[in-house]
Amino acid sequence: MNAEQLIEKKRDGGALTAEEIRALIEGYTAGRIPDYQMAAWCMAVYFRGMTPEETAALTRAMADSGPRADLSSIPGVKVDKHSTGGVGDTITLITAPIAAAAGVPVAKLSGRSLGFTGGTVDKLSAIPGCRTALSFEEFIRQVREHGIAMAGQSADLCPADALLYALRDATGTVESLPLIASSVMSKKIASGADAVVLDVKCGRGAFMKDRRAAEALMREMTALGRAAGLRVIAFVTDMNVPLGTAIGNSVEVDEAVDVLSGRGGRRLTALALTIAGAMICAGGKAGSLAEGRRMAEALVRDGRALAKFRECAAAQGGDVSWIGRRPLTPETHARLVRAPRSGYVEDVRPVELARLVMDMGGGRARKEDPIDLTVGLRLWKEPGDKVEAGEPLLTLYGREGLPMDRLADEALAAVSIGPEQNVFPLVYRMADSEAGETE
Ligand code: URA
Ligand code: CA
Repeated sequence: MNAEQLIEKKRDGGALTAEEIRALIEGYTAGRIPDYQMAAWCMAVYFRGMTPEETAALTRAMADSGPRADLSSIPGVKVDKHSTGGVGDTITLITAPIAAAAGVPVAKLSGRSLGFTGGTVDKLSAIPGCRTALSFEEFIRQVREHGIAMAGQSADLCPADALLYALRDATGTVESLPLIASSVMSKKIASGADAVVLDVKCGRGAFMKDRRAAEALMREMTALGRAAGLRVIAFVTDMNVPLGTAIGNSVEVDEAVDVLSGRGGRRLTALALTIAGAMICAGGKAGSLAEGRRMAEALVRDGRALAKFRECAAAQGGDVSWIGRRPLTPETHARLVRAPRSGYVEDVRPVELARLVMDMGGGRARKEDPIDLTVGLRLWKEPGDKVEAGEPLLTLYGREGLPMDRLADEALAAVSIGPEQNVFPLVYRMADSEAGETE
């Protein structure tokens, strides 16, 4: 069948065979199938969905679109983690060193930020000298020597996903359950880990807006991982308000260091310890999630997690002399915004704040856009906190030439202060490919 017939079959609600899906993916990756046909097919999938068999076939075809990373020369159970993307989500920079400090080898390949969601590679690049473009040999050697490496995903890992993701981003087809599940899991399978901890974001600041959809995505990804022989521990977590207190690249590194020093924001700290605990458990160093979490807490308390972060950044060439002495983010163009009235922080709108940081130059609308790693904002109050009029509410870190007055007004408009002390949930549900699902 040709591509047009496969588009029509999906458009009319049919299910494609594994061979048909493989032909589409191979044809697209090789440049034989043009963007417009693939875009039409993605839109048909967006409206018609896919059967679990189709999603599994798509995942396998994408994982096979390039060479798979071979981590077998690293001893131990290699654990990866992945978030479906959100605002103020600095989890990788915190959990990877905690898990590594527990003796779980962490070989982390990450993406760059796109749209309003951040990317670990950009955050690491904010550390002067820190290289993220490691050759595969360097990457493996660093994991063997230091137990941890965090590098940018090379272009040849899952080339089909790289192409498809950029196409989806430009054609309104990102928010499709089978397309997200196959995109994430094909990369996890290709990157060679033995186990993966998934953080499925749910809410206003995430691709999945409602819980039912996020839980369905969690189940689908857990099943895809299990079918590929991976141990998967997955969570559905809240993204209705920012996870951390920092939005921006260098400020998120500052917040990661704060959490690793035991003085980070409540929400980010709580989720980071849960996820790090799951990584420790999946890596076989703890017998249960609860034990993994207690180990994660202890590694933060005794400074070993922060030491591992420092070791990792230094091994990648980063200047770590500032850690423990001053923030990474320059304060030359900082603007403190105070609370205009007393009350509780009733709401913090994540997308508005993330877009503000993008407007300041801290995000990219297209893959090739340059970004300013030093701009961002830091909230000094979290959702649900009590605040007095005149108290510091947030700081904007700008740069020469930005309209700081207008930006301060916009930031303030994204935060509601009022009489209600709202409750902000954090973890909705979890699944373990070995143990089932819990609320
Ligand atoms: N993250 C991914 O890697 N792929 C998606 O499709 C969405 C989020
Ligand atoms: Ca888009």
